[in-house]
Amino acid sequence: MTVPFVDLSRQHAPLREELGAAFDRVLGASSFVLGTEVEAFEARFAEYCGVSHCVGVGSGTAALTIMLRAAGIGAGDEVIVPAHTFIATALAVMHAGARPICVDVERGTGLIDPAAVRAAVGPRTAAVIAVHLYGQACAIDELHAIAEPNGIQLFEDAAQSQGAEYRGRRAGALGRAAAFSFYVSKNLGALGDAGAICTDDDDVAAAARALRDLGRRDGRHVSAGYNERLDGLQAACLSVKLPHLDDWNTSRRRLAAAYRERLAGGVELVEEKPESPSIHHLFPIRTADRDLLAARVAERGVSTGVHYDTALPDQPALAELRDTDTPVAREWAATELSLPIFAELSTDELETVCTAVTESL
Ligand SMILES: Cc1ncc(COP(=O)(O)O)c(C=O)c1O
Repeated sequence: MTVPFVDLSRQHAPLREELGAAFDRVLGASSFVLGTEVEAFEARFAEYCGVSHCVGVGSGTAALTIMLRAAGIGAGDEVIVPAHTFIATALAVMHAGARPICVDVERGTGLIDPAAVRAAVGPRTAAVIAVHLYGQACAIDELHAIAEPNGIQLFEDAAQSQGAEYRGRRAGALGRAAAFSFYVSKNLGALGDAGAICTDDDDVAAAARALRDLGRRDGRHVSAGYNERLDGLQAACLSVKLPHLDDWNTSRRRLAAAYRERLAGGVELVEEKPESPSIHHLFPIRTADRDLLAARVAERGVSTGVHYDTALPDQPALAELRDTDTPVAREWAATELSLPIFAELSTDELETVCTAVTESL
């Protein structure tokens, strides 16, 4: 048996008719860019996250950049980001004209380490981006306790955490604003690139709405914005999928629990905190010889991924951050291996993965 890392066809097959109907609706209305389907999805996703505004944009990277600019982050500002994340988190800070400051992550979770954030706060620190990596929310209370007294804004990069919770509140509602990606393989994925900004802040939402549409407000261009509008087609497809998100996340949780039971002891697993139940966008394990393990399980037909193999300060595009000392992030980059996890993964497939891993160690 071969086990794919992700198989989107299994998610889409039972939704084919509904997705087709959504496509026909958009085609019939010629409502391709922004418009009623986008507004409808924005209202549904805002309600899902428990916030008053959702602003649909072209990607998660655009969501991050526009969120920061909409909240007033720009030249002269420093923004603290984890050194272990997808590069978009830091690039968005640079696109907004600010400087990313990479800090280390927690050994157990791979999430931004509040102690490292506290140590990095300086006179130019304007914001912190909490990246809820792998599907688990960051230590939000600790981060708020550092940010608020220092006048620092706390943002979420919720690209990997649609439906994740922290003390009963959903990702998207945990900071001043949150950026989501709906890239195809996310827990809630579009049929191409898409993203959104969620916030309770009326001013941030209004500024983001203008920035995504070339700075347009009431027919005039009030800011140097972008062409980063969400497509009607993507919004209509996301509206078809959103009602299934909780069931898909439940299924991922069941699979993650089974992995934990089968793999405990052999490899290092991510620490899961009771206050922040994960929605398991990925299922990372850690082992000293990651590349050898990946090659051995591949010989047994199991596809895996690596998220991520390079700490941000070691990326050529971020060479200016190279002097940052983030040993734990580097250790994650050297040892992390992501096993297949998606809602439709079968019990037999999971068993095949576990056998391949345990026999390859
Ligand atoms: C943590 C994180 N941040 C940002 C992004 C960027 O999102 P997008 O690929 O939609 O631009 C992604 C996803 O790719 C991500 O995983």
